[in-house]
Formats: sequence, C-alpha cells, structure tokens
Amino acid sequence: MTQPSYALTTSLDGLTPGQLHGFFVNWPNPPTPETFLRLLRGSYRVVLAVHDGQVIGFVQAISDGVLTAYIPLLEVRPAWQGRGVGRALMARMQDELRHLYAVDLGCDDDLVPFYERLGMRRGNLMVTRTHARQNGSQPE
Ligand SMILES: CC(C)(COP(=O)(O)OP(=O)(O)OC[C@H]1O[C@@H](n2cnc3c(N)ncnc32)[C@H](O)[C@@H]1OP(=O)(O)O)[C@@H](O)C(=O)NCCC(=O)NCCS
Repeated sequence: MTQPSYALTTSLDGLTPGQLHGFFVNWPNPPTPETFLRLLRGSYRVVLAVHDGQVIGFVQAISDGVLTAYIPLLEVRPAWQGRGVGRALMARMQDELRHLYAVDLGCDDDLVPFYERLGMRRGNLMVTRTHARQNGSQPE
C-alpha cells in the first residue's frame, strides 16, 4: 500500500484555524486553533507538513535573526507519527536556520537519540512554566 503523501511549506499565507486541529495532545490547558495560528504568525520561521488541506505536523522557531534561535514546539499529529514527518520537519527547519550560530531546544530523555541523529548534541536547559498561561491567555 502506498503511504499518503504530504507537503512541507514555510508559508502561512491563507492558513486558517480550521486547518490547525489535532495538536497539543495531552496538554491540560491547550491553546485554541486561533491562538495556535497567532503563535505561528509570531514565529521567526515555521515549517508545516500539510496533507489534504490539513496541517499534520509543524515546527516553530523564534530568533533574534542574528546569532541564535530556539525551537519551542515540534509536533506531529498522532496518526502521522512514526512515518518520518518529524524528522523531515526538523531537517527543513535546520536548513531554514543554517545562517545562525546557535539553534537550541529542550526535550525529554527519550527523544535525545532523535535529535542526535539530526546532528544536535546534548546540553542543559533551565525552565519555568506558568500553567495558567499554557493556553496563551494574558494576565488581566
Ligand atoms: C517527537 C515527534 C515530533 C516525532 O515525530 P515523528 O514523525 O513521529 O518522528 P519520525 O517518524 O520522523 O521518527 C524519527 C525517529 O525518531 C524516533 N522517535 C520518534 N519519536 C520518538 C520518541 N518519542 N521516543 C523515542 N524515539 C522516537 C522514531 O522511532 C524514528 O526512529 P528511526 O529513525 O530509527 O526509525 C512526535 O512523536 C510527536 O509529535 N510527539 C509529541 C510531541 C513531542 O514530544 N514533541 C517534541 C518536543 S521536544
């Protein structure tokens, strides 16, 4: 059986919240698709994997545009995981950021080999989390 195909794009032109369902799996307080679109628009670079008009995977980078970038979010919809989409998204994002000195991200231990195979090496990351803001809401 042939695998269903998808296309990678770095453009957000014409993208609507209706194309952004099925992400933030297991997040207790996830952003809405409208907020998701806002965070994509606020990014330095994005790469989307699109199948049949629906986004099935994405990666986002924020950056000063001079030296450094950070990759906060990479996610592939569960039905598409394990088919190379995550690796393809990351490889394309690395190419988009190839002019920069440092490209960093944080991940759980089980994903270290995934990122090592993409040429990254292990470091330390310090974090804060304000769970009331997980859905993108702003303080009143
Ligand atoms: C992590 C994630 C983006 C990977 O996307 P994917 O499309 O499933 O990954 P790929 O099919 O490209 O996998 C590439 C390789 O990584 C491995 N891999 C993927 N996810 C893994 C995981 N959670 N733990 C261990 N290995 C993993 C695959 O087995 C595969 O190995 P192979 O090359 O030896 O076959 C996806 O599982 C996901 O969206 N997870 C939930 C969100 C998340 O954890 N995001 C990452 C935040 S740092």
